[in-house]
Order: sequence, then structure tokens, then C-alpha cells
Amino acid sequence: MEAYKKLPGLLTSAHAASGSVPVKLNGVTKWPGSTTEPETPIEKVTTYNNYYEFGTDKDDPSKNARNFVTSPWTVSVEGEVAKPRKFSMDEIMKLAPLEERIYRHRCVEAWSIVVPWIGYSFSTIVKLVEPTPKAKYVAFETYYDPRQMPLGGEAGIQLPYVEGLRLDEAMNPLALLCVGMYDETLPNQDGAPVRMVIPWKYGFKSIKSLVKIRFMKDQPQTTWEMYAGGSEYGFYANVNPNVDHPRWSQASERRLGPGSGLFTPKIKTQMFNGYGDQVASLYAGMDLRKNF
Ligand code: MTE
Repeated sequence: MEAYKKLPGLLTSAHAASGSVPVKLNGVTKWPGSTTEPETPIEKVTTYNNYYEFGTDKDDPSKNARNFVTSPWTVSVEGEVAKPRKFSMDEIMKLAPLEERIYRHRCVEAWSIVVPWIGYSFSTIVKLVEPTPKAKYVAFETYYDPRQMPLGGEAGIQLPYVEGLRLDEAMNPLALLCVGMYDETLPNQDGAPVRMVIPWKYGFKSIKSLVKIRFMKDQPQTTWEMYAGGSEYGFYANVNPNVDHPRWSQASERRLGPGSGLFTPKIKTQMFNGYGDQVASLYAGMDLRKNF
């Protein structure tokens, strides 16, 4: 992250040039809406990962993403916008004040974590590029390089990993453009250098290592919708304890914490992962069984 050195005061570390090692983020403010639930220890969040490009076992990404090159990095914003542009990571770090937001993160596999993410509302980017009246959806794409991600070819999903939101969902202040966690820049296995975090949706919507954002008139295809003919994972993927996955219940979840394991008692899953006050109105009148 050679370029980060040009940001006086924001990053301080001798490791800044490597692009692989998280560095401290300074000047981060505390967002008032954070959950007060205990944070999951960083050791868990950085070793129990889903990042299929680096392997499908939970400990694969932490081992295999070590040398992932994340600098230089640009995010291209295109499609139905008046002002398409490419943002360098330097620019992304400075578009808005960085906030620490402690969110619950609920994976569709029925485990959950509590993470102090760092970033700002994705709406910051939306406002800068000025969507045209035709823009109704936003599509997201992860970087994909089979040379750096040789296990991606065996993951059983189509890559590059793609995701999407309705434009009004993307504009919701909770939708986070995330550049760090636990006071530092993102570790590679958690989606360095920049990812989305959508706390009311299953974790697979929170796409990692973002390189492309496209505003569209039609609903974009998403990686996990393409899997199993769309029967297992939907476009909306709102956390919903009342709609089970075809192969398991979504009524409860295993919260990863110190010493947690298969026998740790499960906790109840909350509708919209507990963020209903902020997001339920987005889905007024929709059948959430059909739009799962
Ligand atoms: N993004 C990409 N590019 N590839 C992935 O495999 N996995 C998703 C999501 N984003 C995934 C991804 C899933 S299933 C989850 S639960 C979260 O990332 C996990 O994020 P974490 O490893 O930082 O906890």
C-alpha cells in the first residue's frame, strides 16, 4: 500500500508498503448505532472465513490469501450514472470520515459474529456518481485472478464473485463500504482492501475485495443465486428466522466467541438480523418467502 503513505495521519505502520499486512487506521470516529453485544475476538474473525476464491475450508482464506496483492487498487463505477469514474484506494479512504460500526454479521450457514467494521455509508459513492433515473439496481464484482486465487477454480461457484442490491437498499445508511476492522485496514482474508457489509442480509451479500460497481436498470445476477438453479439462495437474502434454507433451519445461530464450538448453545436469529427498525420499510408489501 505504497500509496497510503501519501495520507498523512491516516495510516501509520512500517508495514504499509507490503499491501498484505493490516495497518492501524487513525482518526476513526465511533458510530452511535453500534451494538453493545460482545465483539467476536479478532482471532476468530480472521481465521474462520468464507472467501471461496482462496479455498472452501474455513481456515483456507487465512492461509492462502497471505500474499494477495491489494495495491495498487482501483474500484470502477459504471453503468447508469451521470458521472462514471474510477476511484483509487487513496480516494476511497478519504471520501468520507471513517466510522467504527459494530454490527452483527449472520452467515446463511447459521453462525454469526460481532465485528467492529470501519468505513462509511455506501450512499457516499452513490451520490458522487449520480445515478440516472434508469438506475434501479447496483451490481458488485470481486477481483478475480486465477493465478493469485488458484483454488477458486475448485470452489464450485462461478467467479468472479458477483452480488447486487436494489438501489434503495444500497442507499440505506446501514449499507457500509468497509475498509477496515478492529482499528486496522482489512486483512486479506476478510476482503482487503475494500468490501461491502450489509448487516441485515446473510453474509454472502457482503462481497469482498470490490473492484467494480455497476448501476443497472435490471436486477443483476448474483453468484449464489446461480448456484443450484436458484433454489437455495435468493437475491434478497434478508436474514429471516421464519424462512428456512431448504437444507437447514434459520431460526437460530451459533455465535462465534472465545471457546465457542459445535456444542455452544445457539441463540435466536432476529428478523433482519435485528435491524428491522432501519430496513423493514424497504420490503413493505413484499412476500419474503417468495423473495428469499
Ligand atoms: N466475497 C467473495 N468475493 N467471496 C466469498 O466467498 N463469502 C461471503 C462474503 N463475501 C464470500 C464473499 C460469505 S458466505 C460470508 S459469510 C462473508 O463474506 C464472510 O466474511 P468474513 O470472512 O469477513 O467473516
